Amino acid sequence: MKKLIGLKKLKTAVFISGRGSNLKNLLKYSVKKKSIIKIELIISNNTKAKGLNYAKNYKVKKKIFKFNDQINDENKTLKFLKKNNIDLICLAGFMKILSKNFIKKFRGKILNIHPSLLPSYKGLNTHIRVLENNEKFSGCTVHYVNEKLDSGQIILQKKIKIYKKDNAKTLAKKILKQEHLLYPKAIEKIFNP
Ligand code: GRF
Repeated sequence: MKKLIGLKKLKTAVFISGRGSNLKNLLKYSVKKKSIIKIELIISNNTKAKGLNYAKNYKVKKKIFKFNDQINDENKTLKFLKKNNIDLICLAGFMKILSKNFIKKFRGKILNIHPSLLPSYKGLNTHIRVLENNEKFSGCTVHYVNEKLDSGQIILQKKIKIYKKDNAKTLAKKILKQEHLLYPKAIEKIFNP
């Protein structure tokens, strides 16, 4: 993958399902001169994903694959990625689990961001579970995607302290702020060490 770095930026597809604040942040990063990615595509399984609105602002192509028929839609997605010469996939709040076959085709080239200190608290509702367990710290993780949910090799993590007054909402807000710093940093770490 590192061989891809040269004069050209990595052609990147961001997969989203909802709000898209990480997408927005990656778009902001990608238009910087020093950025090593260029976001070519926004892909969503959800026609109503708010994040799709960023496509227009940043003049990036958007495409919906509903992933109801997973195999069929994954194949269509793969074709579309190939057609657009995509080098890197960044999952950012993408709520579908990609199959082994899909991951194999992009091994080592799919990244994800998760709002916990992995390997702890994989899956959904992380902040609620973290608070229920009276954890003193939480955070976020950027990792490679493998066949198991939220289990691929960790690239970078940011730890934050949890205060007594924190609730799921305040924790989510604090962590999201850190996510926005962490994702570009993790990309830089891999491709521009
Ligand atoms: C983020 O907390 C991310 O870590 C998780 O889903 C959330 C997506 O938020 N995977 P957004 O759509 O990027 O605002």
